[in-house]
Amino acid sequence: MPLNPLLDTLSDYPFAALRTLLNSVTPRVNDAPILMSLGEPQHQPPPLLPETLAAHAHEWNKYPPMGGTPELREAIAGWLTRRYKLADGAVDPERHVLSLAGTKEGLYLLSSMVVPRRKRGRRPIVLVPNPYYLVYNGAATMAGADAVFLDATRENDFMPDLAAIPRDTLERTALFYLCSPANPQGTIASLDYLKQAIGLARDYDFVLAVDECYAEIYDRAPPPGALEACTALGDGFKNVVVFHSLSKRSSAAGLRSGFIAGDPELIAQYAHLRDYGGCQVPLPIQAAAAALWRDEAHVEENRAAYRRKFDIAEAALAGRFGFYRPAGGFFLWLDAGDGESATLRLWRDAAVRVLPGGYTARAADGRSNPGQRYIRLAVVHDEATLDDAFARIARVL
Ligand SMILES: Cc1ncc(COP(=O)(O)O)c(C=O)c1O
Repeated sequence: MPLNPLLDTLSDYPFAALRTLLNSVTPRVNDAPILMSLGEPQHQPPPLLPETLAAHAHEWNKYPPMGGTPELREAIAGWLTRRYKLADGAVDPERHVLSLAGTKEGLYLLSSMVVPRRKRGRRPIVLVPNPYYLVYNGAATMAGADAVFLDATRENDFMPDLAAIPRDTLERTALFYLCSPANPQGTIASLDYLKQAIGLARDYDFVLAVDECYAEIYDRAPPPGALEACTALGDGFKNVVVFHSLSKRSSAAGLRSGFIAGDPELIAQYAHLRDYGGCQVPLPIQAAAAALWRDEAHVEENRAAYRRKFDIAEAALAGRFGFYRPAGGFFLWLDAGDGESATLRLWRDAAVRVLPGGYTARAADGRSNPGQRYIRLAVVHDEATLDDAFARIARVL
């Protein structure tokens, strides 16, 4: 059967690789398994969500508008304006914002829109931070681009070194996926860093896509955003799009609701492409999403709960495994010496399931895999479970 040969170049999804690693291993302990491998929020979303869904229950019969209802787009524009202190009217709900069925869909689809067959007569490049959210790499591959991996290691404070990207690479670049706060390391790109990345996108004429999915889960200061950096630079949102989601902000991963915002030309093309290949978001879900973007109280509670979880992590693990308190997001990125063998030991001897860091990164251009020494832990469980988990980890590793 003829299939797209690019499929063969897609790497294993990390959770499939994890199953292969652990499936034949039975924990030797009787403790209840604790699953920290998956970044899935464990808090319940606020009552506002089911209440709004119920109030709009008569709308399931209708085809929803592809780009989002005017009400949802306005709620998103209002939130962006408040959150990033943008000028009133800087975000036009019609021109700058589109609703998505979760950001995963949007991150993937974007590459098929902005990666040309050739750039300056050569194969195009998609820049991907390394480690990465797997979708960036998959999207680059399926768009027929060369993914160029930018290692984000302890040496460069876990953010790709922009100044080190060769000019020749930048000239071929069609798209740069940047993640801040970064999954898995939790690093936050500063406003200056974002400005520098935007400058490169404009100088070399590529699209900068900043995945800001974890922007509302932070330890101290709110992470700056790329639209905020655009405002500081002038020239509108040219060459820039950002992605936001309710999955982490409102613990509503099952709602499948997020958005893309930014450069109006890109947004217009994107809306056109979504008419063919995007998923409409049902009207009751759009109504619930609008209510969630308008509400901050539940987000503050959520953030405070994550801070308490990281207090527990810090008390248990500070001084070991290269522990640091991530500035954003809800993952711990621990240096375990060898991530895969630590994952095996933790499952076998403590029934704690984590993700080997190497599964969300890769060895590129003769360099070693920057995730290879690490394990990634989602710090999402209730406090008693986390106490138990960290005690087991400290005992076994
Ligand atoms: C970095 C990053 N981006 C995007 C997503 C996708 O989120 P969603 O599709 O739920 O909005 C995730 C989900 O885990 C993620 O970790």
